[in-house]
Amino acid sequence: MLKKNQLYEGKAKKVFAVDDGDLLIVEYKDDVTAGNGVKKSVITGKGVINNRITNHLMQILEKAGVPTHFVKELSPSETLVKLVKIIPLEVIVRNIAAGSLAKRLGLEEGTPLSKTVLEYCYKDDALGDPMVNDYHIAAMGWASSEELEKIAAYSFKINETLSEHLKEAGVRLIDFKLEFGRLPCGDVILADEISPDTCRFWDLKTGEKLDKDRFRLDLGGVNEAYNEVLKRLLGC
Ligand code: TMP
Repeated sequence: MLKKNQLYEGKAKKVFAVDDGDLLIVEYKDDVTAGNGVKKSVITGKGVINNRITNHLMQILEKAGVPTHFVKELSPSETLVKLVKIIPLEVIVRNIAAGSLAKRLGLEEGTPLSKTVLEYCYKDDALGDPMVNDYHIAAMGWASSEELEKIAAYSFKINETLSEHLKEAGVRLIDFKLEFGRLPCGDVILADEISPDTCRFWDLKTGEKLDKDRFRLDLGGVNEAYNEVLKRLLGC
């Protein structure tokens, strides 16, 4: 597969065109940011870890019947994916109160939610990714009601599948962020990444944080925590 020009560079990934116009190469970076890019650093090896964790989880989800953009891991930090038009929503799934939800509702971090909570944010860095609901999404035409129904159903299925899989690896899935895209045929599939950058992972026994909160909250041991998740999921 011939890697061609760079199409995009985001905070954690670069995207390249390839000779097959239906596909793209995603390259994971070691850069880490928080607070909409205000706090920045480099964590050597993070790109490789996130690439490998994402690809592992995407393949688990495919097996569970969730269509994803994953095609093939090309190198430790590069993956071939299907070209999609990203739906401009961040879909947040929550099992346990943490982060912005704990703050917004005055809940103690770690409080279990009696039902899984789904939130949508409009993907726009300049606006700070504001939270929106089904009515905003319909009014702005970001997704049709059929697409949104599918996104919600996939999100619950992803939560169920990943919660179970991670539990077997001694990891509790607290919350996470998903992005979906449309294939040229119009089908909605899971895109982007699923990694310690985009999920909250807590050790099942000790409650220790094994995700980007270690960077956000200056807890140290970021690399060690990401490596621990990789080791538990892939055994290496
Ligand atoms: P929050 O508690 O800050 O709203 O985050 C909820 C989950 O979504 C958490 O696992 C981190 C993830 N997330 C991202 O991956 N990117 C984002 O831009 C935001 C706001 C959250």
